[in-house]
Amino acid sequence: SCAVFFSSITSFLFFSKLVILVSNSSNLFSLSHITNPEGAAPASSSNPPLFNARRMRVQHIARAKAEGIPLTMLTAYDALTAPILEAAGVDMLLIGDSLGNVILGHSSTLPVTLEDMERATAAVARSTSRVMIVADLPFGTYEDSPEHAFASATRLMKAGAHAVKLEGGEARAHIIAALTAAGIPVCAHLGYTPQSENTLGGPRMQGRGDGADQLRRDSLAVQEAGAFAVVFEMVPAAIATELTQTLSIATIGIGAGPNTDGQVLVWSDMAGYSDWTPSFVHKFGQLGQALHEAASDYVGSVRERSFPGPENYKND
Ligand code: KIV
Repeated sequence: SCAVFFSSITSFLFFSKLVILVSNSSNLFSLSHITNPEGAAPASSSNPPLFNARRMRVQHIARAKAEGIPLTMLTAYDALTAPILEAAGVDMLLIGDSLGNVILGHSSTLPVTLEDMERATAAVARSTSRVMIVADLPFGTYEDSPEHAFASATRLMKAGAHAVKLEGGEARAHIIAALTAAGIPVCAHLGYTPQSENTLGGPRMQGRGDGADQLRRDSLAVQEAGAFAVVFEMVPAAIATELTQTLSIATIGIGAGPNTDGQVLVWSDMAGYSDWTPSFVHKFGQLGQALHEAASDYVGSVRERSFPGPENYKND
């Protein structure tokens, strides 16, 4: 009876393995447009993971700062793009509330909801395995109280984020402290903060003249409150350089010059997806043009009946 028991266990294991194999290969087939549906993107051959980390975490960010190794961050909003960015060697993916402009067609980040952010965060988390995922707390979901901030941040962490980002300095320090104490790493965002575009008078450089002292105070406040990093957006390179030298936490710049500890860009700006490019962006590709050419080719091929070709269908 022992032999019968083991032989049925063996066939059960064999059968389950077969079922898993078949279901995986059908997943691979149906999701073949996603680089790796299992979420383990291949490491980039040209940009190996920093410190060989299986998952980028706050200690790796601190170590990169200490060793002077530049950090890379790009935005990501979906499961199609995120694994490609991860495979290219990016350290952090930011589920930016720029999703409002880039993906949802709003003219600002103000209409972005927590549900929008949760859905995008979950898609990026499902399709990646190594990057650190930082999700923006959207406008109206954290400013009024640490309790509100905690409830909102918890939803993003449960969706798969490893940290949250929020805009503001001294005025938000108590919120950063409360989230950090609750086990939620926080990246602060200073300089031009798009959620305050109406009080700031639109996208314009911050931290100039008298604004430099406020930026210094805000930077120290977020560091003392426990933020693990701070994004500086659209500030003069000189003040970003000074603060990068004086702060112990990592500084990540966008329109803040070459000397911050890391750089962040909206991925579609970086890849040249649209015509619009702010002056601080360099287009590292021509993705919009490539997509236009592919889609034109498709339309032409359907019209002239060269697609689908014999390799694209079966007669029976
Ligand atoms: O939402 C976003 O994309 C951002 C970056 C510009 C830093 O906050």
